[in-house]
Amino acid sequence: MSDPVTIYEVGPRDGLQNEPGFVPTEVKVRLIDLLSETGLRRIEAASFVSPRWVPQMADAAEVMAGIRRRPGIRYAALTPNLKGFEAAQAAGVDEVAVFASASEGFSRKNINCSIAESLERFAPVARAAQAAGIYLRGYVSCVVECPYDGSVAPEAVAWVAQALLDGGCYEVSLGDTIGRATPEAVDRLLAHLTSTIDPALLAGHFHDTGGHALDNVQVALDHGLRTFDSAIGGLGGCPYAPGARGNVSTLPLLRMLDDTGWRTGLDIAALERAEAFMAQEIAGATKEPVKGGQ
Ligand code: HMG
Ligand code: MG
Repeated sequence: MSDPVTIYEVGPRDGLQNEPGFVPTEVKVRLIDLLSETGLRRIEAASFVSPRWVPQMADAAEVMAGIRRRPGIRYAALTPNLKGFEAAQAAGVDEVAVFASASEGFSRKNINCSIAESLERFAPVARAAQAAGIYLRGYVSCVVECPYDGSVAPEAVAWVAQALLDGGCYEVSLGDTIGRATPEAVDRLLAHLTSTIDPALLAGHFHDTGGHALDNVQVALDHGLRTFDSAIGGLGGCPYAPGARGNVSTLPLLRMLDDTGWRTGLDIAALERAEAFMAQEIAGATKEPVKGGQ
């Protein structure tokens, strides 16, 4: 029970991409700087995606240029294609993430291509990341349910997760994108996945729409997973997953892990400062609707 567990903070990306208004660059930078003081080792800071698709992330390069980098922290960004990878590399990210879906409906809506096409598109990103010595992470979205296609079979998730690992990802994060997964469904999924994939190569990414995210983390711990994505203040959602709520909130996740004897190395007081900043500044910064989103 005293194993280390890694909390992977995704609030500046998954959280802010879904804000109704554009969060000013300096606010994003300050949030990431505060998160850098908490003991986190991995922070997803931005997305190098099409600004027409996700206008909230249009300032990714400026965010990366503005943050105060702490040694020992990996600052990551989403990159859907080589164009995004090249921009992320120029901005000096330490890690990039490619993202696929286990359901065709979400793949089409989110990245405008089939699952198979998305995996083909990631291959040159993987090669470029390897050549540049940049860590490559993978996401599989809709691991239990898709907002367009309904239930998703564990076999479909296993296939995409394995393809991402074969393609060079050091870890695959399993996204309950719409946050509706029950602990029973997560248990079934992970029983299937971990029969062929080492749980050390998997992370949990639970959105909290149905209020099951912390229970789902517990189930995943039982299956051997030791990395969990969370967002400060429970920010988050995906513009292409209607109704999806925020990621599991970082502080409650940390408290639950602390209470049950898992070590995270995070500083609760520093996280409280980041959350307080987020609540004051970001809530107040998002009154204007963002124009141009699809
Ligand atoms: P497309 O329209 O099919 O692609 O979009 P395209 O190649 O025709 O490009 C369209 C325009 O975008 C062009 O510009 C490109 O240059 C530009 P135009 O000529 O029209 O002016 N473009 C780019 N610009 C900047 N950076 C780029 C880039 N690529 C093309 N990288 C595309 C395909 C993948 C680009 C688009 O669908 C896209 O950007 N999608 C991203 C959607 C997204 O970010 N969703 C949220 C993240 S995923 C998520 O939240 C789930 C996760 O949290 C896990 C979970 O919860 O499940 C990870
Ligand atoms: Mg997400």
